[in-house]
Amino acid sequence: MNVLGIETSCDETAAAVVEDGRRIRSDVVSTQIEIHRRWGGVVPELASRNHVVQIMPVVDEAVTRAGGPAAVDAIAVTSGPGLVGALLVGVQVAKALAAAWEKPLVQVNHLEGHLLAAFLGEEPPTFPFLGLVVSGGHTSLYEARAFGDYRLLGQTRDDAAGEAFDKGAKLLGLPYPGGVAIDRLARAGDAKAIRFPRAIVKGADLDFSFSGLKTALLHHVRGHGVPEGQGLADLCASYQEAIVGALVQKAFRAARRFQLPTLVLAGGVAANGRLRAAAAERAAGYEDLRVVVPAPRLCTDNAAMIAVAGTHALERGLRAGADLNADPAWRLQ
Ligand code: KG4
Ligand code: ZN
Repeated sequence: MNVLGIETSCDETAAAVVEDGRRIRSDVVSTQIEIHRRWGGVVPELASRNHVVQIMPVVDEAVTRAGGPAAVDAIAVTSGPGLVGALLVGVQVAKALAAAWEKPLVQVNHLEGHLLAAFLGEEPPTFPFLGLVVSGGHTSLYEARAFGDYRLLGQTRDDAAGEAFDKGAKLLGLPYPGGVAIDRLARAGDAKAIRFPRAIVKGADLDFSFSGLKTALLHHVRGHGVPEGQGLADLCASYQEAIVGALVQKAFRAARRFQLPTLVLAGGVAANGRLRAAAAERAAGYEDLRVVVPAPRLCTDNAAMIAVAGTHALERGLRAGADLNADPAWRLQ
């Protein structure tokens, strides 16, 4: 079964065709990063307007590369969570195509898409697994029991991990998206140069909190200014280490506590080089714990992951009607 996935929840206009939930036949992403960069973050109305411009060319390219409309068996679209005006563009196009081609339509939760991106890799995970979703809007730990069956184990109390990267980068005068800029600069830095606080959330040891870290960086910059050269690299590496340290510690704690043999990293922050390395290093200390991380381009927003989630939702008999709406606050589970 070939499923066309459509994704417009934030600042990426994406379409992809995936065969049997495993093999990518086409995967097109048009990013708006350059448009939002001058504002230092995603401007919702600009995102919607640009989705409207990009969506048809992007879908057309994905469908053509996969063999044309006749090769598409069903359509899956992200209907939440995300920016409502952005989501509506994808939802409306998906409904129109489903009606015109007389193909089944299914709605997909963006976070489930991130969790299932790992199934597009060479060695996909098996259920049950511990999924860490780290993106611009979410930082959550899920017990994934089966396709469509997820239990939330912990989440952030304030900023998402991606937000911590983006806001930290802004304080340092680095371009949006900050995670990418910090990741790159940190490679040449000493992560032990500056001690940042590790977030501890009283009474909920699988929850995260990153706002204190951001404040610590603000105080550091107020006291010392923004360094250049090696000093900036050290500051980035130290700040990144505080975020990555908290993510890895809690993800492994959850995996051990709930006896989940596989840890899946997902979402844009899972593209972070240090997070990928730190998770692999930590896993090497256990004989019975495997880490699965999608290729970096499948960690950040894409439509192939939406097609994967859609394929399994269709297999479970789920269908969306012509009245499908966006659900900007749709919670997974
Ligand atoms: O999943 P995603 O593409 O969009 C959302 O669903 O939010 O995640 C975007 C987030 C941004 O905060 C961005 O700074 C972060 O992922 N990100 C990274 C890296 N690449 C993207 N954070 C750290 N290191 C990276 N290499
Ligand atoms: Zn995302």
